[in-house]
Amino acid sequence: MEKRRFGRSDLMVSAIGFGAWGIGGPAMAGNTAIGWGRVDDGESMRALRTAVDRGINFIDTADFYGLGHSESLIGEALKSRPDVLIATKVGHRLNADGSIALDYSRDHILSACEQSLRRLQRERIDYYQLHSAKLSHLQQGDCIGVMQQLVKEGKVRYWGLSLSTFHPEPEGDFMLQNGLGHGLQLVYNLINQRARDLIARAAAAGYGIIARMPLQFGLLTGKFTRQTRFSEDDHRRFRLPPHLLERALDTLEPVWTMADAYAASKTGLALSFVLANPGVSTVIPGIKTEQQALENSRKPVRLAESDIEQLKDRYIDEWDPLLREMERAG
Ligand SMILES: NC(=O)c1ccc[n+]([C@@H]2O[C@H](COP(=O)([O-])OP(=O)(O)OC[C@H]3O[C@@H](n4cnc5c(N)ncnc54)[C@H](OP(=O)(O)O)[C@@H]3O)[C@@H](O)[C@H]2O)c1
Repeated sequence: MEKRRFGRSDLMVSAIGFGAWGIGGPAMAGNTAIGWGRVDDGESMRALRTAVDRGINFIDTADFYGLGHSESLIGEALKSRPDVLIATKVGHRLNADGSIALDYSRDHILSACEQSLRRLQRERIDYYQLHSAKLSHLQQGDCIGVMQQLVKEGKVRYWGLSLSTFHPEPEGDFMLQNGLGHGLQLVYNLINQRARDLIARAAAAGYGIIARMPLQFGLLTGKFTRQTRFSEDDHRRFRLPPHLLERALDTLEPVWTMADAYAASKTGLALSFVLANPGVSTVIPGIKTEQQALENSRKPVRLAESDIEQLKDRYIDEWDPLLREMERAG
């Protein structure tokens, strides 16, 4: 497995990491699904261990994934592997009525950090992220001060921000302009290439870049059909409704042809496209099973410049308009 330096830090991260949202299981915020449907914890543990055996040394989670369950599984599966780098996030919690609260207050971050350390069975978090903090939170400043304090105290090695799926630039540029933190997490995949310019600017400024959602909810694995429907406890039910699924599938036929030309799987092509961007430090496909750990950790293929250009053009012509509709879906 290729390793890449995470920005200017001394972390060497596997080019392919492990997205651990799904293994958190089917948590709900009131009536809203905040997970990916049912999972089997035994299978999740096998997925984590298989991924590490295959050279994946970077795991991305959040205290909100499965309301702590994802972190607990990681802590259990990897307690004898301090060499595996763990990134987690803070800033989401549930209100008493079950609704989602965004909380970047000093007190919440300090106490959430202690709870994450306990669940992860670690004394230090390798990389700690503000989970989707907005410009107003950053400008107010408390959350920045407390992240810097946690680094000074040795509870956190490096910190950064996880950015908005559809509009990553305002907060990303704020971090860059003020020289804050060490890395950014953003969405970058075939269908959503909105962060391309930001990635270039941030990488040039020495930030580590985590590219999330490389499979666009699993769509880019090619496994969905027009008949695919998601369960009530799977957030894809509202994020990928039938009309968007159909439209997306129509636009992907040429991508499948390209994967065949490289003798790559569809998943392999999707991950290779992300890794072809030199600014990306690590791409973190969501992994729920041992089989997905094996498939997603395969060596990427080297795409020709002309094919990358073609995929960029397709984004402008077809996928960005689709993305606008996805944005309306939530
Ligand atoms: N705001 C944030 O900070 C934020 C937001 C989103 C994600 N993230 C992070 O980014 C990670 C990755 O993004 P994501 O999980 O949203 O999306 P993704 O990687 O685009 O899609 C992941 C889903 O695709 C399916 N899948 C994965 N590999 C597969 C394979 N080889 N074959 C078939 N299906 C496969 C799995 O679901 P099924 O098996 O159920 O189909 C998996 O949960 C998350 O786990 C999380 O760590 C962060």
